[in-house]
Amino acid sequence: MSGEVVKEMENLDIENHTEETEDIVDPWNVVSKSEKGIDYEKLIKKFGSSKIDAELIQRFEKVINKKVHHFLRRGIVFSHRDLHHILNQCESGKPFYLYTGRGPSSSSMHLGHLVPFMFCKWLQDTFNVPLVIQLTDDEKCFWRDIQMEDAQKMAYDNAKDIIAIGFDVNKTFIFSDLNYMGQCPEFYQNVIRIQRCVTFNQVKGIFGFDDSTAIGKIAFPAIQASPALSTSFPEIFGVKKFPCLIPCAIDQDPYFRMTRDVTPRIGYQKPALLHSRFLPALQGAQTKMSSSEENSTIFLTDPAKKLKNKINKHAFSGGQATVEEHREKGGNCDVDISFQYLTFFLEDDERLEQIRKDYSSGALLTGELKKILIDTITPIITKHQEARAKVTDELLKQYMTPRKLSFNF
Ligand code: TRP
Repeated sequence: MSGEVVKEMENLDIENHTEETEDIVDPWNVVSKSEKGIDYEKLIKKFGSSKIDAELIQRFEKVINKKVHHFLRRGIVFSHRDLHHILNQCESGKPFYLYTGRGPSSSSMHLGHLVPFMFCKWLQDTFNVPLVIQLTDDEKCFWRDIQMEDAQKMAYDNAKDIIAIGFDVNKTFIFSDLNYMGQCPEFYQNVIRIQRCVTFNQVKGIFGFDDSTAIGKIAFPAIQASPALSTSFPEIFGVKKFPCLIPCAIDQDPYFRMTRDVTPRIGYQKPALLHSRFLPALQGAQTKMSSSEENSTIFLTDPAKKLKNKINKHAFSGGQATVEEHREKGGNCDVDISFQYLTFFLEDDERLEQIRKDYSSGALLTGELKKILIDTITPIITKHQEARAKVTDELLKQYMTPRKLSFNF
């Protein structure tokens, strides 16, 4: 019995401090020393999550009776915790829900932000389940020097981008913390239940806080944990407890290690997780795409011409210095950013494989590869901009109103 209890506990002692040669991945920093970018295999070991292997994908496809999303096939969504529980739940025809979020730190989102949300949309369409999306405008007030009004405005701007991705209004609830926390006693009560269970010592270990950290930052992780409890959304779930699956980028894992440590102690199942990789910056895979670096970033608002210029000018190339040399030696797909982006956004597996072969052999030149990327991304961005322009304040309000969704629980 006691053995089992130990097994159930989450490992919260992962060293926050890292060796100089190691990649840094936490909610605030993502940096690698290698041209190839973050070593995700190492990260799985360090965080103690599980790799998504061929066997799990096979099981996934059996349960959903179709091919999994190319992010799963290509290891872009590469790690998980307790996904088997969710698949078991599906097999026995029982409900669960999805929870994801976004910290609104700028009013215009970029291509990298699309990745977890695109995946989330696929999950929602595949499983036909409710989705709650937390906008942590409160978090951004603690971590950045911004006014509360501005944080909230960015939350609403970002919500429009999220809506443009195509989530079903009858199955999706989007909320701003600054707003919803004061609107829903059940949510706040869950925050308190969680805050009672976590010590300063624990969050110091998990997040690297110290004695001079503002107390808002120290208390915040409980707010990101609460949506993993279905009772935080009484309009949707009533008082019933449902299992939760959280798709997120791997840097958010520390929040959910903490969450998974607490939930069994307050009578809830641990949330399951699906972790995605980062979309690298245009300049190279050492860092992820970031809103603060104009030239390394493709914004969802970039006009087609700007997009084309950015890729041609800034996308780091794994090609050789001259055409002759390239034809002879071929390009390196492992470091080539255009190729990396194609693995995210070009759905056709066969075509991608052909491009990989041709670029590696030297048959395909860097300029040609970049053109393929431009032709792939431009329609995605243009379609997004058109959808975004159609999101009215009225529609935004609909998504953000606490209400019963089209599920009977
Ligand atoms: N902290 C996240 C960010 O800064 C936002 C977030 C809140 C989130 N809840 C989440 C992300 C759940 C993924 C899943 O972007």
